[in-house]
Amino acid sequence: MRILAIETSCDETGAAVVEFDGKKVQLLSNVVASSLSLHAETGGIIPERAAREQIKFIIPVISKALVDAEVSFNRENIPNIDEIAITYGPGLIGSLLVGVETAKTLSYIWDKPLIPVNHLFGHIYANWIEKNSDEPTILPEFPLVALIVSGGHTDLVLMKSHQDVTWIGGTRDDAAGEAYDKIGRLLNLPYPAGPKIEQLAKDGDPNSFKFPRPLLHEGGYDFSFSGLKTAVLREVQKIKSLNDKTVSNICRCMQDAIIEVLVKKTMKAASEYGVKNILLSGGVAANETLGNTFREKIAQNTHQVKFYVPIRKLCTDNAAMIGSAACFKNESMPWEEITANPELYFD
Ligand code: KG4
Ligand code: ZN
Repeated sequence: MRILAIETSCDETGAAVVEFDGKKVQLLSNVVASSLSLHAETGGIIPERAAREQIKFIIPVISKALVDAEVSFNRENIPNIDEIAITYGPGLIGSLLVGVETAKTLSYIWDKPLIPVNHLFGHIYANWIEKNSDEPTILPEFPLVALIVSGGHTDLVLMKSHQDVTWIGGTRDDAAGEAYDKIGRLLNLPYPAGPKIEQLAKDGDPNSFKFPRPLLHEGGYDFSFSGLKTAVLREVQKIKSLNDKTVSNICRCMQDAIIEVLVKKTMKAASEYGVKNILLSGGVAANETLGNTFREKIAQNTHQVKFYVPIRKLCTDNAAMIGSAACFKNESMPWEEITANPELYFD
């Protein structure tokens, strides 16, 4: 089965073609156009601008995904795909509408089933995409806990099967990526700040600042990162002029705080629910220090679990992950019934 997937929930316009053999998801093409550089100018995403960029990119990106995947067209100019998958939420309404309306139009004119996909499941299912290496792909096994850490979300989910999914915790305020971005702004770093903070943290002294580990010792699996941002703000206000060393020190200590909370809470959930796997996903999963900390802690743990994280370009927003989710949650709907839902959560 071959699926054309489309993702436009925020500032990335993505289209991908995936092939599914009933077990593994193979990536035939993955195209992402981003309006990130525009948002870097303003230090954050302006939804109206993001939506306009989506309109510019959507058709060229879909065309390129079909060409890259070497999809053939029949005499009526209909591509040789079986289904279309589309992100219908959560996200920015203007951006979502561009993808949803385009996908509905293509579904109608090409007469292809349309599968609505929850963006959050998309992030999780990036872990099912075959890695381009010589090693055989070992697929995730249930039960598992999935940690989604992105600019908009921090969620812990228990999955006993593709159908049996329970949300067990999430952020009460800022998402992990949002904390990176807001602290980055305090430090005059370019948006989105996650990659830069990760890089600067490498030269930072871990004992230079003591930042809070919010909710670490509370029961349950909720997170809270807005207090961390306030703690950094207080330190920044005390310092007369920020030099490179101080910025690196702050980056190191705030990243240590975020990573400690994310890893400890996820590991606790993994042992409480006796899972086989931990799956990391979302833009912040691109952070190598986070992945390596998970690997270290798992190696020291008595409860053995296998750890999964997608390759870097499949951590941040892309359509390949939406195609992958559609392979396992293959519930097409009449296009007339599909609407964008910016508030969509775990259903
Ligand atoms: O998943 P994503 O592309 O978009 C959302 O669905 O939100 O995630 C974007 C977020 C941004 O907040 C960005 O700062 C963060 O992911 N991010 C990182 C890294 N790369 C991206 N955070 C920490 N370390 C990174 N290397
Ligand atoms: Zn995302």
